[in-house]
Amino acid sequence: MTSISFKTIADSAKAPGNSIVIYGVTSEGDSGVILRSPFIDKAIASADLNSLNFRGKTESTTRLISGSQTFGLVGLGRGISSVSQAREIGGAIGRSFKDQKSLVIDIPLASTEEALALFEGIAFVQYEFSKYKSSKETPSKISTVTLVSQFKISAAQIRKIKLLADTLNSTRDLINTPGNDLYPAKLAELIALDAKIPNVKIEIWDEKKLAKEKCNGILAVGSGSVRGPRLVKITYSPANAKAHLALVGKGITFDTGGISLKPATGILGMKYDMAGAATVGQATLAIAKLGLPVKVTAFLCIAENMPSGSATRPNDVVTFRNGKTVEITNTDAEGRIVMADGLILASELKPDLIVDLATLTGAARVALGNRYTGLMGDDASVELVKSAAQSAGELVWHMPLPEELFELLQSDVADMMNSRVGNPAGGMLVAGLFLREFVGVKNTKDKTSLNWAHLDFATAANNDLAAYGSTVKGATGSMIRTLVSLAEQLGTKTKK
Ligand code: BES
Ligand code: ZN
Ligand code: ZN
Repeated sequence: MTSISFKTIADSAKAPGNSIVIYGVTSEGDSGVILRSPFIDKAIASADLNSLNFRGKTESTTRLISGSQTFGLVGLGRGISSVSQAREIGGAIGRSFKDQKSLVIDIPLASTEEALALFEGIAFVQYEFSKYKSSKETPSKISTVTLVSQFKISAAQIRKIKLLADTLNSTRDLINTPGNDLYPAKLAELIALDAKIPNVKIEIWDEKKLAKEKCNGILAVGSGSVRGPRLVKITYSPANAKAHLALVGKGITFDTGGISLKPATGILGMKYDMAGAATVGQATLAIAKLGLPVKVTAFLCIAENMPSGSATRPNDVVTFRNGKTVEITNTDAEGRIVMADGLILASELKPDLIVDLATLTGAARVALGNRYTGLMGDDASVELVKSAAQSAGELVWHMPLPEELFELLQSDVADMMNSRVGNPAGGMLVAGLFLREFVGVKNTKDKTSLNWAHLDFATAANNDLAAYGSTVKGATGSMIRTLVSLAEQLGTKTKK
């Protein structure tokens, strides 16, 4: 459990001794200007920042020594103008001052929300994945964070920040673990270990049960591996549920591409291909720990995509549980095949909303760069997820599902195929259109589709560049907080 103690105090004179005091620096023209708090140390207030070449660039940090005390400075750019920016500044502080036990932060903030976000940023970057290093990095020393502010923060608010930080870290551990140690049965078992929570039930379906339930997509993708596939179903049903949310996550513990093998460069990083399953699983457990009044059913579609004598071949046809048939033209487009089973199962429960999360396409990076998650679906569901992401401070972008691209998936032998080999047009959108085919209807009479949103976080799930703001290197934990915030929003709605 994250053990940092967070508090606010109105008067910096009451700050604990032996602390590093951190001030904010805005950037004006080409110069950095220290934000003067009434409590600021005089020597610091008159420091010549230009001579230090510190110009207040947002998230930059530096240290100043005055007498026997060290002070910290953090760049705020043009000043903190949003809750999200406060979180990113917190992240920069949390990463740069890990060697200090006690931080006192004397930066003027505009609201309780900004103060909470600053604490979140600090908490969310206290993570190292050093399990496989024989010489471990020095762990963070931060044990107390004191914000000089008139805003009061409640114990429940601090508890939630810590729960989110813990959830992020356990999700990151799962995602960062290499494929030799994290195979389908292991991922299922680790999630089950975390699921001993009131009102939470967990089922693990092995190959036998998957065959009985006609989960032929998961079985087809898993058939090339000696380590068989799994489906994990997590149900959180509180007595006071105001809505039913179904979540579906892609859990490919390693994606070689299968018989349509990936090249040596493209295959690197494919241990991250189970991020969707780890995230929906851990988000469901966090929602349960918070006791939110929303029923959640999560389906984790888990397999290892390997080439072998028993692997699915290109041109094989899979018949799904709902009767639809798909010709597999590219075994590397396996995510949509396992997700189809999850979406069929979720649809059978007729929930109020289905949200699926997957590292689905390389095309997501081509379209949106490294930080944005692509969001597709019907307008009402997209709006709900967008507003949840906004309140969590996570980046999502609404992408279209253009009908004409669906034509690309017409097959001569089956109802559809899983990819149009050699046609890269709108790869992320074609995958979204494929998934939409497996979303069921609200009722058989008027055939209105269930509410559904699809998130493709192929790039946001993993940061292979340097850490920035409140985002760590490697597995990021992206979308955990959006899903929790979505459940919070659904919990405030009155049931129809
Ligand atoms: N797991 C990959 C998508 C991916 C790529 C995630 C890069 C993270 C980084 C997925 O299974 C895949 O291989 N998709 C193919 C689809 C194509 C064959 C239609 C892709 O994006 O190339
Ligand atoms: Zn693939
Ligand atoms: Zn994949």
